[in-house]
Amino acid sequence: MDPNIEVVFDADAIAARIKSLADIINQDYADTRELVLVCILKGAAIFAADLLRKIRIPCRLEFMAVSSYEDFASSNTVQILLDLKHDIAGTDVLLVEDILDTGLTLKKIHEMLKNRSPKSLKTVCLLKKHNQKICVNIEYVGFELHRDMFVIGYGMDYAERYRELDYIGAFRNIEQSP
Ligand code: IMP
Repeated sequence: MDPNIEVVFDADAIAARIKSLADIINQDYADTRELVLVCILKGAAIFAADLLRKIRIPCRLEFMAVSSYEDFASSNTVQILLDLKHDIAGTDVLLVEDILDTGLTLKKIHEMLKNRSPKSLKTVCLLKKHNQKICVNIEYVGFELHRDMFVIGYGMDYAERYRELDYIGAFRNIEQSP
């Protein structure tokens, strides 16, 4: 284990939380014929894979990748880098995201998907920070982070590293985090 990284949620805690999230999702969608999971790459890939295997409703898995940046007018722009392969009109969609920070990325993705007329659209997010700039409605939240930290592991990266950790960690020394 890297001594510079503190464990925030270990593999057992993550597995237990995903199981309980899936139990609720299975209940909520019990009458659904097909659920489309939209995984936002890359950070949510591992979370989506584990969640998918605990869901007992017939599922389709779709991927989307976006880049989020502040444009010249200081407004937040989310650009689609990889789009869904299939139309989601008339389907039940569950958006799977890794972490909610300011909320800007998720808000834009939610708007983009809503414009494609799904039958229903809900969001499951593994982690939620406490400093949202804008209000985003998330139906299912894995864990809330109550102090400022940059987390890594379990799919989440710092400069494309640390995604492989089976736990969620944070740098002990703030100098090492962005
Ligand atoms: P937001 O638009 O500020 O909510 O940022 C959301 C995106 O920023 C997430 O989907 C992540 O890709 C990234 N992000 C925000 N905070 C963290 C973090 O602590 N660790 C890793 N990625 C993060």
